[in-house]
Amino acid sequence: MDIGLNWRDLDKPVDWEKVYGNKNSVDCEIGYGNGEFLIKKSQLHPERNFFGIDYSIESFRRAKKTIEKTDIPGVKIVCLEAKAAFIVLIPEKSLSHIYLNFPDPWPKKKHYKNRLLDREFLKIAASCSTNKGKIIIATDDPFYRDFILEEVAAVHLWEPLFRKGWTNELSDHFSTKYEKKWRNEGKEIFYMMFQKKADPEISFRMREYKIPSKIHLPNFSEPKLERICGETICKQDSVSKLLKCTKQKNEYILNVFLKDDTLIRKAELTISENDKDTWELLIPEKLFRTRSLKNLVNKLKALDK
Ligand SMILES: C[S@@+](CC[C@H](N)C(=O)[O-])C[C@H]1O[C@@H](n2cnc3c(N)ncnc32)[C@H](O)[C@@H]1O
Repeated sequence: MDIGLNWRDLDKPVDWEKVYGNKNSVDCEIGYGNGEFLIKKSQLHPERNFFGIDYSIESFRRAKKTIEKTDIPGVKIVCLEAKAAFIVLIPEKSLSHIYLNFPDPWPKKKHYKNRLLDREFLKIAASCSTNKGKIIIATDDPFYRDFILEEVAAVHLWEPLFRKGWTNELSDHFSTKYEKKWRNEGKEIFYMMFQKKADPEISFRMREYKIPSKIHLPNFSEPKLERICGETICKQDSVSKLLKCTKQKNEYILNVFLKDDTLIRKAELTISENDKDTWELLIPEKLFRTRSLKNLVNKLKALDK
């Protein structure tokens, strides 16, 4: 199997044994950048599996190339936002270690909402960690460090393993590209390590809806479709939008935007005329059926009326 995985092709949640072909424990790195930390860790711990998550397509391509040059079987990476990856892909109680090396600190107050390591994510991470699983974080930003310590204290799910909550020295540690950069600039580096002490009370798993791949639209017509093109449908945390409809012979290609929490996608649906002069909506088998898709499908079904 490939090193760089397309998250759309994976089971949700993933079956680690199917992904790695073994029952070894799984560690995760969020924000793998050029992939060197995953390589180093896997070389040091061939008895573990490593799963990398990064939302940058450039990082994904670069890391994939670099990891492919090595001969290590235990590393797999995906290109996906981390919170989305955790609530869609990662099975509950399955990760032994979660590493974050220099997560973006978003230093401006108005950008704090973009910080990954807030209390919600710490709860999600606890739900995906094994009992006594650990989070290990490196940062150069003392304000982000303190923010993380406050968030950890607020959720009561993680035990800080260092006095003061952090340390400047970490044994058995590998310096990443960013760590070298900040050290060369004379910056102080802070390491934090937390051990899971409890499970959160609720599940954060993103719900998958049962939506068939073929849906009949008996009274469909082009003017009805045109009416909803460009319309945004917002319900709870989900947003869907029909961006563009293109007519091709006896079918319409629908380019749609789907957003559920931090999972943001574009997809292509088809409305096709069948030989009985009726229309049907075709949804790709592999499209993950979230609430935003359900809302859009309901809107298209309502065109029948
Ligand atoms: C500052 S770089 C650090 C890269 C590498 N860990 C290192 O230490 O050299 C942050 C990395 O995290 C990724 N990243 C930031 N926020 C993310 C998120 N919410 N989900 C997934 N990846 C994220 C970025 O694309 C980038 O590759």
